[in-house]
Amino acid sequence: MSTKRTSVKELLQSKGCSKEVEISGWVRTKRGNKQVNFIALNDGSTINNIQVVVNMDDFAEDLLKKVTTGAAIHVKGLLVESAGSGQVREIQASVLDVLGEADPDKYPIQPKKHSLEFLREVAHLRFRTNTFGAIFRIRHAMAFAIHQYFNQNGFCYLHTPLVTASDCEGAGEMFRVTTLDAKNPPLTEDGDVDYKQDFFAKATSLTVSGQLEGELGAMALGKIYTFGPTFRAENSNTTRHLSEFWMIEPEVAFNDLNDNMDLAEEFLKYLIQYALDNCMDDLQFLSTRLQEEEKNKKADERSVELIEKLKFVLDNDFERITYTEAINILKNSKPNKKGQFQYPVDAWGVDLQSEHERYLVEKHFKKPVILTNYPKEIKAFYMKQDSDGETVAAMDVLFPQIGEIIGGSEREDSLEKLTTRMKEMDVPMDGMQYYLDTRRFGSAPHSGFGLGFERLLLFVTGMGNIRDVIPFPRTPKNAEF
Ligand code: 4AD
Ligand code: MG
Repeated sequence: MSTKRTSVKELLQSKGCSKEVEISGWVRTKRGNKQVNFIALNDGSTINNIQVVVNMDDFAEDLLKKVTTGAAIHVKGLLVESAGSGQVREIQASVLDVLGEADPDKYPIQPKKHSLEFLREVAHLRFRTNTFGAIFRIRHAMAFAIHQYFNQNGFCYLHTPLVTASDCEGAGEMFRVTTLDAKNPPLTEDGDVDYKQDFFAKATSLTVSGQLEGELGAMALGKIYTFGPTFRAENSNTTRHLSEFWMIEPEVAFNDLNDNMDLAEEFLKYLIQYALDNCMDDLQFLSTRLQEEEKNKKADERSVELIEKLKFVLDNDFERITYTEAINILKNSKPNKKGQFQYPVDAWGVDLQSEHERYLVEKHFKKPVILTNYPKEIKAFYMKQDSDGETVAAMDVLFPQIGEIIGGSEREDSLEKLTTRMKEMDVPMDGMQYYLDTRRFGSAPHSGFGLGFERLLLFVTGMGNIRDVIPFPRTPKNAEF
């Protein structure tokens, strides 16, 4: 008889038993005795396994020897209510084929606890663990939810280029794109590399942000968003930085800074609600995992339970304060007075470090914070200048455990103010005329922000290292796989 192959997820959710089913997947564990074996089978559709019951008399011993952890098998059989505890239903196998063996002496993912560090070294196989299965299903769900949110709200998905000739946003942090001979590049009379002879006839790099092109789209389509990879060659070896990461950048014409904050807060809450509504099995698994990992920590060093933490963000308004207010809080804070910050906060104008951001969020306000109106000296040239001449209409959204999750601003829409600021900051005007055209023709207030996709995933999954929420992380000195 032939049945259609189903997924484990469908089997576990479907109503009714006592039917013939057909399934393929990878063996997680096998146990049993001379009469009967129980195989826990997973096919990636859900964190849960289906139990396959194998009557030893029905199958050759040689065949069953090949059914080891990691092997791929195909099973046909009757789906029945399970008599044993631990699962609701199981399959009584009538047909079992081994599609691909996994030599137990060589297969690295054995049914025991592996460290995250070890799993990073076998990132090509770590998808097969419960932890990484859960993370990458959540990653998918969040990507889908992002598109759904914007689509439902009338945004247009704009594909901005990855190769760019403008380096004004990422001075010094960009990966060069070139086809010139590295050993023997053509030189100009002055002895510099002659990029006129390069593939694009100019110096090009990988983008650090789609914002500038996104603004061009927003100034006609009204509401746009980008969602793509971005590249930064900064040498930051932290648990929150990647050299290649994904960013979501909405840009909205006629939005001011307040509208921008409202959008950011509503958007983040939508995504977290989506995770709670659609990823509960995986979240519950990750929550238990985290509690397990932290059980030896002191009570006050343990993180808040994952699902409780997500609900907490939904239930509370984000605190909105200015940079100036934040500096006053930090200056007078205990850790600052006791010299416990690595970077002491002594004067207005200093850039905030992640230790400061986390103090504000985790200790002072105990909820997400949106910081606004930063000093213009520490922010990009395109941010709208405030009337005080000192600050700009910037906003950073700060989250517990993460620090900065979103960075954005209202944009300077006055041609004169923008070009003056560019001159002050030595931003090259050549090659930026296209950008300035939006301020020359039909200029209007507009705002946007960038959400780091992996930072969002750190928060939603509760994982501690950004290398564990992207399939194949790229970091300084590391581009394996
Ligand atoms: O604050 P950033 O640099 O802002 C921009 O790029 C603006 N052009 C965005 C805009 O207004 N359209 O980056 C935005 C976010 C950060 O808040 C952070 O979440 C994430 O991108 N991010 C990184 N994530 C992982 N690794 C890195 N190296 C990151 N750098 C920034
Ligand atoms: Mg930023």
